[in-house]
Amino acid sequence: MEFFKSFFAAIIISFFLFHANATNVTHDGRSLIIDGVHRVLISGSIHYPRSTAQMWPDLIRKAKEGGLDTIETYVFWNAHEPIRRQYDFSGNLDLIRFIKTIQDEGLYAVLRIGPYVCAEWNYGGFPVWLHNLPGVSFRTKNDVFMNEMQNFTTLIVDMIKNENLFASQGGPIILAQIENEFGNVMGPYGAGGKEYIQWCSNMAESLGVGVPWIMCQQQDAPKPMINTCNGFYCDEFKPNNPSSPKMWTENWTGWFKSWGGADPYRTAEDLAYSVARFYQKGGTFQNYYMYHGGTNFGRTSGGPYITTTYDYNAPLDEYGNPNQPKWGHLKQLHDVLHSMEYTLTHGDVTNTDLGNSVSTTVYSTKEKSSCFLSNAHNQTDAVVKFGGIDYYVPAWSVSILPDCKDEAYNTAKVYAQTSVLVKKPNKAEDEPNSLEWVWRPENIERTAVQGKGDHHANRIIDQKAMANDASDYLWYMTRVELPKDDPLVTGKATLRVTDSGHVLHAYVNGEYIGSQWAQYGSQKYVFEKEVKLNPGKNLISLLSATVGLQNYGPMFDLNVTGVLSPVELVAHKGNEKVVKDLSSHKWSYKVGLDGVANKLYETDCPSKLKWSADSIPVDRNMTWYKTTFKAPLGNAPVVVDLLGLGKGHAWVNGHSLGRYWPSYIADEHACQTVACDYRGAYSDKKCVSKCGEPTQRWYHVPRSFLKDGENTLVLFEEFGGNPSGVQFQTVEIGTACVNAHEGKKVELSCHNRPISRINFASFGDPQGVCGSFKKTECESTEDAVSILEKECVGKESCSFEISEDKFGKAYCAIKRLAVEAVC
Ligand code: GAL
Repeated sequence: MEFFKSFFAAIIISFFLFHANATNVTHDGRSLIIDGVHRVLISGSIHYPRSTAQMWPDLIRKAKEGGLDTIETYVFWNAHEPIRRQYDFSGNLDLIRFIKTIQDEGLYAVLRIGPYVCAEWNYGGFPVWLHNLPGVSFRTKNDVFMNEMQNFTTLIVDMIKNENLFASQGGPIILAQIENEFGNVMGPYGAGGKEYIQWCSNMAESLGVGVPWIMCQQQDAPKPMINTCNGFYCDEFKPNNPSSPKMWTENWTGWFKSWGGADPYRTAEDLAYSVARFYQKGGTFQNYYMYHGGTNFGRTSGGPYITTTYDYNAPLDEYGNPNQPKWGHLKQLHDVLHSMEYTLTHGDVTNTDLGNSVSTTVYSTKEKSSCFLSNAHNQTDAVVKFGGIDYYVPAWSVSILPDCKDEAYNTAKVYAQTSVLVKKPNKAEDEPNSLEWVWRPENIERTAVQGKGDHHANRIIDQKAMANDASDYLWYMTRVELPKDDPLVTGKATLRVTDSGHVLHAYVNGEYIGSQWAQYGSQKYVFEKEVKLNPGKNLISLLSATVGLQNYGPMFDLNVTGVLSPVELVAHKGNEKVVKDLSSHKWSYKVGLDGVANKLYETDCPSKLKWSADSIPVDRNMTWYKTTFKAPLGNAPVVVDLLGLGKGHAWVNGHSLGRYWPSYIADEHACQTVACDYRGAYSDKKCVSKCGEPTQRWYHVPRSFLKDGENTLVLFEEFGGNPSGVQFQTVEIGTACVNAHEGKKVELSCHNRPISRINFASFGDPQGVCGSFKKTECESTEDAVSILEKECVGKESCSFEISEDKFGKAYCAIKRLAVEAVC
């Protein structure tokens, strides 16, 4: 009896201890309710594998400083379970450490388990072994699939529970997500898809996480799943259940980049506009996708053809620098929205349409009211008479009046500084101007020359099935015996290969004959090349190189990858055309590169393969290059400039930087000729830049990959290039500009470095943009440059109010200050 008493006492005590600091997360139709308080939350996506564990604290701190209270991440199944039931949570896959870093900063977390994530991530996060399981069918009522999905989801939930990281356990995670945007593609899945979504909901619920579950873009989300919105604008979104709050899980802050694509750019004005509209129209939770995009290291990028950089034009750039003015303009918006939390979540709402796309929204409680004045017209500015006062509301903007009187913020009036980032040469001691290289060829003797593989089949097999995603590279090799009078020998012969749209290199009898890849898109293509065939034996060797497996679309997992049927030899003899289909010949397969098998990318390469320092080849395909370098001094982010190279893979000290492809020039026709205008609906094609330039020239080398003393860079060059121009550089703020109206308080900052000079300053009516400001007739009586030199030079940042008191009298109607400071 005594035993039972103390046993139950222990249970009761641990129950209270366990729940003592539990955070209670519920919701009503208005908002999430955390420990009884209705919340206005602002969140941002940071994907842990797209940076390093060493970068996380800084990124999360900058997110917090930028006014976020929540960090959202997906969980990347194929990274964690690369081989079935073999798990990896090390390094930048340390999910628990990432969530704890968020917790340490006092922020909330949203865990989007998926485990399908899309995310421009290889195969949308699905492991390729899953595709290769007999009887599997993805994202539908299929036992094989559902068992694996449940197994992984449960594993993640259990790991999180063991560390008490759900809010219900006192941890930071306030929401969990199951599936991802299935609603966008579910039509073709028919009844199976509908049953699957119900199963997802039941399965998630059964895991007992103690926080609400969300499903994004799922209009038929079963209760109690909360259906959330993803897109560039979500102000018109309505969840399917009156007790679900209006939540926006992905506000795309820019867009991802593809090889051959231009640089995406979403203006700070438009992004802020979309956010303000959302909160004006009753939204209470919004997440930036991405807040920090980062880098697709290794072979993690999806596709096909997603670049290694996943910068996304996000508020924090690929390297973690504030992308200004976006970061700062949004920070001001967040402060204003947070100050209105109570009215936004409790106020009675009055919307008034004033015509010509102008409307006002008043949130009023007994104590206080907050107002939005919005002008959704994409061209005409408005003067809105409101409460007896005239407010100037530019086209495509929202003014926020937290007390319904003073305009605290307008989405089109940007006062945050613009930072111009520059690349600086590596100034490490004794670092020579150009790097010294050694090289060696990729060994293609057994493959291209001898046609020897490890697997054989009388058909062309899907690259996913054959290579199981162990490598980008797969050799397909077959022999053709031709009599000497065969028209393929006597006439003109052509090799014709149909390809799924990845990269193809073709060899005939050991000779390289050509390569092809998809131009500006990921469409299938047919490679065609005249070839010289011999009487007797001929060897056709095809090397397919994937550039990220497809991550989106209905049944995208079934898209066949690599070389497709038919592979043909075509003979032309006069008008006669003879086609020989090789598809059902005996094919030999070999997965991966010989150099990778021999670990050539490792610093202390264990293999006996020799590198040569003699006559470093240029424009030689299938070539390995190696060099050493010293880490740039200081702690600014490091990049390597790979201009001059073709396509391949790069490693520093054995860490993969990802695929490189600086020779892929961004489509010249993708850029608009008209200037970028923030007004009007944004799309990923709008405001893009850098057409006709290399899609990606610089590759991030995280500081934690580097060490004191000698570092090693290894490149595998697939097409042929010239490494002589390769350089390590740092990314730093070059100049910081402010352009703001009288009355505003502004800040100039060089982020941890002193401001060295004031290049330009004018109070009056200066014209132009950062880098090309000009004074006009209207100019203040005092010298703005010397005032700011005294105020700012030598300091890391300075803030001041723009006023006549400070800068002297200026006789123009509307006065502004423009400053350009050198860091
Ligand atoms: C969404 C998806 C995200 C990401 C985004 C585009 O549809 O949910 O994972 O792929 O599109 O960047």
